[in-house]
Amino acid sequence: MTDPAIATDDRLADVPLARRPRHVAVIMDGNGRWAQRRDLPRIEGHRRGVASVRRTVEEGARLGLTQLSLYCLSSENWKRPQRELDFLMHLLEQYMIEERTTIMQQNITVSVIGRREGIPEATLAEMDRTVEMSAANTGMRLCLAINYGARGELVDAVRAIAAEVQQGKLDPATIDEALVSSKLYTAGMPDPDLLIRTAGEMRISNFLLWQISYAELWVTEKCWPEFELDDFHQSIRSFAARDRRFGGLAS
Ligand code: IPE
Ligand code: IPE
Ligand code: MG
Repeated sequence: MTDPAIATDDRLADVPLARRPRHVAVIMDGNGRWAQRRDLPRIEGHRRGVASVRRTVEEGARLGLTQLSLYCLSSENWKRPQRELDFLMHLLEQYMIEERTTIMQQNITVSVIGRREGIPEATLAEMDRTVEMSAANTGMRLCLAINYGARGELVDAVRAIAAEVQQGKLDPATIDEALVSSKLYTAGMPDPDLLIRTAGEMRISNFLLWQISYAELWVTEKCWPEFELDDFHQSIRSFAARDRRFGGLAS
């Protein structure tokens, strides 16, 4: 029998390490549609989505990504029915508990970005525990965007900068891109190189607006529960073939 680890390695063997993305961000969309197409309740799609999270995180760590950022809940998702939100909170809490062993084994550091308001205390407590437990790990950073909105993040950054100016600690003339970056929830993290979106929508939905300025976009029609390692590899292969010019001329 083929060792699955060797088999997946082989599938990307022709992609040089230098051409692979270091930071991959994912808009994990289409859980509801996946379920509805099968006459299942939307929450079943979310449950199946967790399995996709598990395999993507494990593969990201195995491929040696510096960071994998996953959009788990947007600041706009509170518009959904309470029952669906309660279930998402439950899944989040379970994930934080059940994944601890794997996270520690794979040397992953977990970070959470977003506002804490609205997240139940019990969920926050499990999140904090996993974040603290994994803080000294040195492998891939898994950044989970929970109750995250990029506009809200920019508002929080502007407030922090304005407060420093008001206190006389900061001269507005010295505000530059590096300073703005350092006030975002993602301070200290590299910008995403590759942004994946599942379920076919050609939009950003308020995710990492500042940070994805030069990310390469890759969209698949597949819904998040159907996102397999092959799709992940395909996105990396597509990324590796792109010419990232950053405003300059073709290399
Ligand atoms: C993504 O799937 C998960 C979250 C936004 C929490 P959706 O729940 O948005 O699924 P669709 O887009 O309705 O199919
Ligand atoms: C984006 O998906 C948010 C997450 C994946 C968590 P949505 O389903 O909320 O995005 P829209 O509503 O289609 O833009
Ligand atoms: Mg959606």
